[in-house]
Amino acid sequence: MSGQDQTKYANKLQDANVLILGGTSGIGLCVAEASLEFGALVSVASSNPERVHQAVAKLQKAYPSKKDNIRGYQCDLGNQDTMEKNTVSILEKVVQDTGKKLDHIVHLSGTGVDPVPLSALGVKDMTDRNSVNLRFFSPLMFGKHAPKYMNPGPSSSITLTSGVLAIRPLHGTGFAGPMTGNAASSLGMTKGLAVDLAPLRVNLVLPGAVDTPLWDALPGGIGAVLKAKAKDTMLTKIIGKPEDVAESYLCCMRDANMTGTEVHTNGGTLLF
Ligand SMILES: NC(=O)c1ccc[n+]([C@@H]2O[C@H](COP(=O)([O-])OP(=O)(O)OC[C@H]3O[C@@H](n4cnc5c(N)ncnc54)[C@H](OP(=O)(O)O)[C@@H]3O)[C@@H](O)[C@H]2O)c1
Repeated sequence: MSGQDQTKYANKLQDANVLILGGTSGIGLCVAEASLEFGALVSVASSNPERVHQAVAKLQKAYPSKKDNIRGYQCDLGNQDTMEKNTVSILEKVVQDTGKKLDHIVHLSGTGVDPVPLSALGVKDMTDRNSVNLRFFSPLMFGKHAPKYMNPGPSSSITLTSGVLAIRPLHGTGFAGPMTGNAASSLGMTKGLAVDLAPLRVNLVLPGAVDTPLWDALPGGIGAVLKAKAKDTMLTKIIGKPEDVAESYLCCMRDANMTGTEVHTNGGTLLF
């Protein structure tokens, strides 16, 4: 018997319009690669125009036959004063440039931990922080505005990002409170938005330590120290690779039955 094999699974993202916030580096860039490999139209966005430019060039070099499927946008989501305007603007631009509504939004824009101990912290320190704005307020603004720019129904999704620190505070640092408090807000945000936006789906990925440029940006070389500490607590004994962690985001996009839930990818650190 001859004939064509079915492609029930391979084509789930074919021609899907995917916007990846924080798609210019690390995990987000891998989600962009994977989405392209599955046939999606991919727009990556982040605050640094040079980073956007480099990411688009890198993707176009890796996928020369899909050049027209790749777009890059500068968009700062870390400032409370401009966040809502920038949110609407990026949604409008991507829909206009691609000529169709979005199917999936993946929110990975984030910064490393702010290693300021609780004892030295003021409220304004927290409200001024990129990490809080990106983790809490930005997903809220996408929850408010994105549905208008997305195809309705459970085939569409928004995937947010937090981290394993939302579940397990980092001992011995003196900044577990602000860090875990902020990270854990995503758990409630995901469930609440999933209810508000249904049948559009909203899910959350919580990575453990992943080998990305995020660690290098931390002050005073603390990134290397924290990364080594994290590795010791992983059952796999390997810091996560961004191309592996990207699979959790694909799962959130492709499983139309999944909403309001958390996906963990952390090398088994919670069992340590
Ligand atoms: N790596 C880990 O171990 C780990 C663990 C748990 C959770 N996470 C989370 O996973 C997400 C991705 O992190 P990553 O490890 O892939 O780090 P990364 O390589 O540093 O990527 C972070 C992305 O966020 C963008 N971004 C930063 N500030 C932004 C802003 N103000 N507005 C818009 N975009 C902004 C960055 O681009 P620009 O600089 O151009 O803005 C970049 O594209 C983050 O939310 C991070 O907190 C990472």
